[in-house]
Amino acid sequence: MKNFSRRQFLKAAAVLAVTSACDALPTSIPNLPSLATRTPTPPPEPTPTPGPTATPTPLPPTFGLHERAKVKNLIYGAAMGSSGLADANLKRKFAEECGILVPENELKWSTIRPANDTDKFDFSKADALYNFAKENNMLFRGHTLVWHNQLPTWFNSKVTKQNAEAVLTQHITLTMAHYAGKVHSWDVVNEAIHPPDKRDDGLRKTKWLELLGDTYIETAFKAAASGDNKTLLTYNDFGFELDTPEHEAKRKAILKLLERLKTKKIPIHALGIQAHLDASVIKLFKAEIFRKFLSDVAALGLKIMVTELDVIDQKLPKDVAARDIAVADAYKAFLSTTLEEPNVIAVLTWGLSDKYTWLTKEKPRSDGAKVRPLPLDEDFKRKLAWDAVAEVIDKAKGR
Ligand code: G3I
Repeated sequence: MKNFSRRQFLKAAAVLAVTSACDALPTSIPNLPSLATRTPTPPPEPTPTPGPTATPTPLPPTFGLHERAKVKNLIYGAAMGSSGLADANLKRKFAEECGILVPENELKWSTIRPANDTDKFDFSKADALYNFAKENNMLFRGHTLVWHNQLPTWFNSKVTKQNAEAVLTQHITLTMAHYAGKVHSWDVVNEAIHPPDKRDDGLRKTKWLELLGDTYIETAFKAAASGDNKTLLTYNDFGFELDTPEHEAKRKAILKLLERLKTKKIPIHALGIQAHLDASVIKLFKAEIFRKFLSDVAALGLKIMVTELDVIDQKLPKDVAARDIAVADAYKAFLSTTLEEPNVIAVLTWGLSDKYTWLTKEKPRSDGAKVRPLPLDEDFKRKLAWDAVAEVIDKAKGR
């Protein structure tokens, strides 16, 4: 029987499923192996570190995403929450697939400053994730020092215009000192741009802006630079990948912010692109427009990281085969353009397995089907999304 790739098989299944929408999905498809007999990608063998090769040969499927990325001097990794540390299967897959780990929530104010006491820091949850990363030779990324979300309950009652700068500077200085020399990159400021708030500078009207004015961003980066001079200080944001007026306005405002910070010699080293993509509108992603934006950012001397990549499948058909193809296509469209930019140094997905994704709660499907936004399914099996990420990394130019 002719060998069909996983994608061809699933595409056929998807076509059949969609064309026979009213019927139950056939249990076997003529002339194709039925799902039951399809052999999943073999679990990876212990893999040697690939040495330099003159003519890079295609990597065997057993190579994890981070090993494929390393061949191109790129970094691949993912976000993990504390609950992931209790899941041996997830930890094993992280060790196989990831070269960097970012705590999903454990470095946010609400986690490290929980007590109703402005001087108490609790790094225990983040430390546990850092230790796991270190034990598995992964880099560690910090998220996030300044954000308008997930502030502790005491914040609004305790932080005033008079003490805000001291509170902010203390938070950044102590948090950076705790992890000094151990963090690849920090999201210093997260999601500060929001053109719908109609400010000329495009800034989001947040508590921080209210308390400190538009210089809070510079204050944060300066405090971060004094806390640790061995980490990439990053501005991180979402919602500027597509060819829409809203996304274009956000690209313009982000570029304006980055230019202003660079002109004022504020210590900023990178832009973080969250890239929470939506497969149902990926046709609005125009490679040439996004490519131009990336080169404009790089021209400022900034590195670029994809920091929270996942693909929302909320509005896709229920059929898993069709959905997986559409999600994989979105990964491929976005990443193949993004990795053309030499200043892009890292790609992190916002989770590794569908078993642990914020989208289950935040973007549930109306049909109740489980969401499938990440490279591995809920049983930690590689999906077409994994294939897409691997293919784009394998075809990317080396850094
Ligand atoms: O820790 C409490 C727990 O004590 C309580 O019992 C439970 C009740 O629901 O809530 C828990 O807090 C939740 C927290 O995640 C930790 O699990 C919050 O409700 C929940 O809102 C929070 O969601 C996180 C979200 O940021 C907050 O805005 C998601 O897990 C996290 O994936 C998401 O990540 C953000 C990035 O930081 C920034 N970019 C966007 C991205 C997605 O929103």
